[in-house]
Amino acid sequence: MTLDTTLTQLSEQIDHDLRVLIDQQAAYVADFSGYFFGWLDQSFQPTSQVQRGKRLRPILTLLICQAISGDTQRAMPLALAIELIHNYSLIHDDIADRDEERRGRPTVWKLVGDGLAINTGSVLYTLAYQVITTLDAPAERILEVHKKMVQTSIRLSEGQHWDITYERSLKVDEGMYLNMIEGKTAALLEFAAWGGAFLATEEEAVIDAYRRFGLHLGLAFQIRDDALSIWGDSKVTGKPPFSDLRNKKKSLPVTYAFSRLEGEALSRFQALYVNVEQHMTEGEIQEALRLLEQVGAQGYTQQLADFHTSAALRALDAADQHSPAQAGLQALAQQLLGRVS
Ligand code: IPE
Ligand code: IPE
Ligand code: MG
Ligand code: MG
Repeated sequence: MTLDTTLTQLSEQIDHDLRVLIDQQAAYVADFSGYFFGWLDQSFQPTSQVQRGKRLRPILTLLICQAISGDTQRAMPLALAIELIHNYSLIHDDIADRDEERRGRPTVWKLVGDGLAINTGSVLYTLAYQVITTLDAPAERILEVHKKMVQTSIRLSEGQHWDITYERSLKVDEGMYLNMIEGKTAALLEFAAWGGAFLATEEEAVIDAYRRFGLHLGLAFQIRDDALSIWGDSKVTGKPPFSDLRNKKKSLPVTYAFSRLEGEALSRFQALYVNVEQHMTEGEIQEALRLLEQVGAQGYTQQLADFHTSAALRALDAADQHSPAQAGLQALAQQLLGRVS
């Protein structure tokens, strides 16, 4: 079976079970969530025509569980919980970032307003904790999953805290950036990978190897995302063009430029970021792009994403599993490095 077929099948299973869960909720939850997950159109009628999320995190959980045990079903409630947390975080993130488009459609706040969007995100977050109680595992193992999920959610919020705080700072270095993305993005991929392994085996070394795989994959994923926000095609990403630059986000290309530019060029770059109350104008964005090019920020960003993908692949080797699902994980990691959406 090709990687694409495997991913499509897993993604369909996840969507099916997610939809059953969401459809059991009251209409106020089912409508807005169904819209965001991509089953409903803007009038909350069924549609199959829209761009959906990649379901990367739950796919990771299921594929890892399969690589170790040959089974995916035992990890499904956890996979659903992780996708719920991811989608809650995106609904809230779009409010914080004031982004008007995601997955090629208006964001939830743009469609229904901030208050209802916050509420929808909060329900998805709560449902995640409900769904893991249905895991078919000994109570103490479910408790361990719960504990790790709480830690992960807190790390995610901490990462978001720094991401938003750094919009107003000129002193963000690469170490601060890496700590920020480890929280906002990598922690959930780390948890997704850890959980898939934890539900499949009791071998600590194997569980920890997959955890490291998820962590480095998450770092590479966010670094790639930073590049896509600047040099990607917004028609393919489904997100607004140059949103990170406009919002003065201290993404990796920007922290790199701050550390490499000198003299007059550095002063010009700083001037673009100094007025924290205002978004960048189109002209300023063009100037930022020229300065980023001057220091080779795109190449450096890809290099650091490569570095973390290699670290992820080494961790995967250390897990020492030999199955088609393991080969699928390898191919998936490599594919993500060149992803365009
Ligand atoms: C977007 O994640 C947010 C980041 C952590 C970069 P994805 O790119 O996985 O979002 P969807 O679910 O596929 O839309
Ligand atoms: C991604 O944040 C992390 C979370 C949502 C927790 P970003 O703001 O960098 O991601 P996009 O580019 O909006 O998807
Ligand atoms: Mg955002
Ligand atoms: Mg954000």
